[in-house]
Amino acid sequence: MPKSVIIKEVGPRDGLQNESAVVPTEDKVELIRRLSDSGLKHIEVSSFVNPKWIPALADASDVFAQIERKDGVLYSALVPNERGLERALTANVDAVNIFMSASESHNRKNINKSIEDTFPVLSPVVKSAKNQGLPVRGYVSTVFGCPYEGKVNIESVLNVSHRLLEMGIDELSLGDTIGVAVPSQVTEVIEKLTTEIPREKIALHFHATYGTAMANIWAGLNSGISIFDAAVGGLGGCPYAPGASGNVATEDVLYMLHRMGIETGVDESKILDTAAWLEKVIGRNVASNMRAVQRGAS
Ligand code: HMG
Ligand code: MG
Repeated sequence: MPKSVIIKEVGPRDGLQNESAVVPTEDKVELIRRLSDSGLKHIEVSSFVNPKWIPALADASDVFAQIERKDGVLYSALVPNERGLERALTANVDAVNIFMSASESHNRKNINKSIEDTFPVLSPVVKSAKNQGLPVRGYVSTVFGCPYEGKVNIESVLNVSHRLLEMGIDELSLGDTIGVAVPSQVTEVIEKLTTEIPREKIALHFHATYGTAMANIWAGLNSGISIFDAAVGGLGGCPYAPGASGNVATEDVLYMLHRMGIETGVDESKILDTAAWLEKVIGRNVASNMRAVQRGAS
């Protein structure tokens, strides 16, 4: 069980990419200011994908141009190809996050290519980003289940993970894109992967569809994983994964970790305040448990 954990905040990207109403650029900038002020050291700000595919994040360059950067905080972005990397480098990102899926159908729906055809697209992105001295994270989506295929073969997870690591990525984030994982499966997948991949390189990215995300984090902790993705207010989802719900809420993860004596360096109350502020921006209640308790008390 790790004594401290790194939380990687994906709310501004994974959270806002799935909002039906586009959040104004100035509110995104204010969201990132608030997150930067909470002690978080990793914030995924936006994504340089094709804006026709994800209109909600079409203002990625403007957001990067307008955010105030805090020393010691890494501001990253999702990048699908060399065109995206060009835009990300112009925006002066601190870190690059590439992504693909372990299941063929989701990969095709999400990035318009087969798994095999995706490697030659991502490989030069990793190479150029590393040449620029930037850290690169690789997301593998649909690790625990696919919205189109159901069960996903562990061999496919291993294959995609290895190929990304061979390209030179620094970290692998295993995505439960549609939130179907259960703790025993998390343990099994990590045990299989860590026979060949160092545990320190693995992060976990849970969506919260069936209420198992916190239990999955517990399983991850027990397998020695110490990097977890989360989104303030539990926003999120992939528009190309039907049934995907929000990410596990950052404030709920902090609640559990802090009371287990695990340090994160993140101020729980500042994240909770940000979730409350976000409700005004998006015009509805967020799904986190912490926020529901706070609303009930006020
Ligand atoms: P494509 O249409 O096959 O791309 O899309 P293309 O290379 O054939 O190019 C077509 C046109 O798009 C061209 O313009 C390109 O310039 C333009 P035209 O010549 O026709 O005028 N284009 C771009 N423009 C701006 N920025 C770019 C870019 N790339 C091409 N980067 C592509 C392929 C991958 C780009 C597209 O499918 C795409 O953008 N997909 C992104 C989908 C997405 O963002 N999904 C959500 C994120 S993944 C996720 O949420 C999961 C995760 O959270 C983990 C988990 O939960 O599992 C990470
Ligand atoms: Mg996600």
